[in-house]
Amino acid sequence: MKTVLITGGAGYIGSHAAKAFSEKGYRVIVLDNLIYGHKEFVKWGDFFNGDIGDDYLLKSLFCQFQIDIVSHFAAFAYVGESVQNPRKYYDNNLAKALVLLSHAVKNDVKVFQFSSTCATYGHPEHIPMTESHPQNPFTPYGKSKRFFEEILRDFASSYPIRFSILRYFNAAGADPAGEIGEDHDPETHLIPLILDAAMGRKRGIEIFGTDYDTPDGTCIRDYIHVTDLAAAHVLAAEKALNAESGIYNLGNGDGFSVKEVIEKAKAVTGRDIHVVEGERRPGDPARLIGSSARIKAELGWQPKYASLDKIIETAWAWHQKRFQTR
Ligand code: UFG
Repeated sequence: MKTVLITGGAGYIGSHAAKAFSEKGYRVIVLDNLIYGHKEFVKWGDFFNGDIGDDYLLKSLFCQFQIDIVSHFAAFAYVGESVQNPRKYYDNNLAKALVLLSHAVKNDVKVFQFSSTCATYGHPEHIPMTESHPQNPFTPYGKSKRFFEEILRDFASSYPIRFSILRYFNAAGADPAGEIGEDHDPETHLIPLILDAAMGRKRGIEIFGTDYDTPDGTCIRDYIHVTDLAAAHVLAAEKALNAESGIYNLGNGDGFSVKEVIEKAKAVTGRDIHVVEGERRPGDPARLIGSSARIKAELGWQPKYASLDKIIETAWAWHQKRFQTR
């Protein structure tokens, strides 16, 4: 049985990955400092409460377990905050991640898997965006992810470790079995905020800009179900274990505007949702759509929950269960 250390395994995407690895027969160890994670999301594997930059804790973890794969999700991911406080992002997403990577190399970890983002591309030069799209991130968040990708590639050239870099477009939805889902504090993502409005936890949803160069004037994004994302991690880890490193985009290759997402959420929830048309949010590209042709061709990845209906249905079921009584 192979062992995977999942950092950030109490978070949104990390907890879904923990479930996916566990269901495929891996021994799962979760490391999370619970700053943004939720202890109750750790349902698969052993849990260690701690930081990815904690040298002492990492020494003891790598001593205690023979870890084959590190799947690294623990990161700060508020794009706006990263502009206000870049030090926080470079410290956590880069400096501490380097401590973790160094321990992985020292302890003969075979694969280091990294949760990256389409934000490493910056403004799109062509749509859909492929893995070879130029990488010109324009926020400290995107840069911290880009720089760590580079470090990882250099390590894999010089040390016996392989990598898989997964660049996500917009992760959304929740575990179809309803065991885990999205719960950020503060929440900034479109779908959970719309569902908050549908539930009456918020007065309405504000659309950030209606004057973009898109058919209805609102931004277009490529939403990908978190369970499909998690399944891709297992495939990519296995490819790296058995053959070679890889870099893969993860999106559905389909774009939906903010207005389309709101309309779909109205239909799925059967609720009226109050909408306010507001100003643009700085730094939002009009359109982000990813090509996942490479991961489909090389790893046989096939999304099971690609439709926006399915994404919003699973998110809505989770959202009601999680927040109804709060
Ligand atoms: N939006 C609104 N109103 C809201 C929240 C969002 O109109 O209250 C809009 C945004 O302006 C954007 C779209 O909905 O056009 C999606 O916004 P999200 O914040 O849900 O997601 P982003 O596309 O901004 O961010 C995602 C990931 C980031 C990643 C980024 C890459 O969450 O981690 O893609 O651009 F960096």
